[in-house]
Order: sequence, then structure tokens, then C-alpha cells
Amino acid sequence: MDPEHWNTAYSAGDNVSWFEAAPEASLRMIGRAGLSPGRAIDVGGGASALARCLRGMGWDVTVLDISSAALELAQERLGAAASQIAWVAEDITRWRASVPFDLWHDRAVFHFLTTPEDRLAYANGLRAGLRPGGAAVIATFAEDGPERCSGLPVMRYAPEDLLAALGAGLRLEASERFVHVTPGGGKQRFQISLLRRDHEK
Ligand SMILES: C[S@@+](CC[C@H](N)C(=O)[O-])C[C@H]1O[C@@H](n2cnc3c(N)ncnc32)[C@H](O)[C@@H]1O
Repeated sequence: MDPEHWNTAYSAGDNVSWFEAAPEASLRMIGRAGLSPGRAIDVGGGASALARCLRGMGWDVTVLDISSAALELAQERLGAAASQIAWVAEDITRWRASVPFDLWHDRAVFHFLTTPEDRLAYANGLRAGLRPGGAAVIATFAEDGPERCSGLPVMRYAPEDLLAALGAGLRLEASERFVHVTPGGGKQRFQISLLRRDHEK
């Protein structure tokens, strides 16, 4: 994955196809996880407002993104409040959490992993980075969603396919479909799933 591709994309500020003013579907699904605020990571969080929302709810938040430009934009927006969030400029297929999180959130990042090797690396990182009983909330293009985004090919998932792609140790607890309307007025079909990490046997 090329960080420069994403740094260039973020030079458009909010005029990116994935922009949403409020992360409503993510917050709804996070609410369904029923977790008390603890440690959360927004994987490929970019300049999303989710980190600010979770921080406001009492979560200890880490935002990881391959694009340093995205993280700078997010920090600029937050001003002094940016210091309450941990910022990590890394590729999720190469990074490992040192302490597992209670909540792992990903909106529109996993679907960019088009090779089996990258998907396996992500799945291993998720397993290592989520505590037993913790929740992963993952939004991807749905099976009838777009085939490309930001000039790149993507994978499309039904919730059961997402579960299969992420491997053992997770249970699918809930899923929803929703339509994202891009700033240009395009409609993109998404699915968002709540996956629970099993307790060790
Ligand atoms: C479509 S955007 C979604 C951004 C954000 N989740 C949101 O909902 O606004 C995809 C994001 O994933 C980041 N990204 C892409 N590949 C990545 C990777 N391998 N590791 C970490 N971040 C990645 C991009 O820089 C970008 O911020």
C-alpha cells in the first residue's frame, strides 16, 4: 500500500468520496456492542469525526492511518483536543498493537486489501489487537457496492464473507446495510458488521 496515494487524496480536504459529517452507522453499531468505554482504535481513521465522538464518550482513542497527511488534517481540526488522542502513522498490515483494544473500528479500509497476504496480515493483527470479548465494527462496500474507490480496486463483502475473510476466533453478532452519499451525490452501498472476539477456551 502506498502512503503517497493517500497523502495526495487528502490534499482535497473534506472533498473526498468517503467524507461523512457524522459517523452515524459506526456509532449505532458500536452502541450495539454494549461495551463500557475502554481502549478503542480507529484503523485507517483518516480525518473521520469518529475519534472525537468516541473521546467525548469517554473512550481512550488511538487513530492509526497510513497517511500522515490525514492524521495532520484530523489533528488540525481538533486543535488542543488532539493531544487527548494517540496518533499512529502506520500500515495496518505491518503494525501490531502492544496492548489489545476493547474496540476495533474500521470504515472502508479492509476492503482495499486485495491480496490474500494483506488480508491475512490484517486478520492476524486484528486477532492480536482485540481482547477476548472485545468488538470489531467493520464497514466495507457491500456485495453490490462499488468495484473501485479513490482510483483503487476494492473487495466487496456480505457480512458472512467478511467473517470468513477475518478467520477463526470471531462471531458475527449483528450487521446492517446502509447507503453512503458521497459529496458529489454518488450512492455507495455498504455493510457494517459487529464481530465479537471469542473468549479463549
Ligand atoms: C476510504 S478512507 C476512510 C477513512 C475513514 N475511515 C473514514 O471513514 O473517513 C480509507 C483510509 O484508510 C487509510 N489506509 C489505506 N490503506 C491503509 C493501510 N494499509 N493501513 C492503514 N491505513 C490505511 C487511508 O489513508 C484512508 O484514510
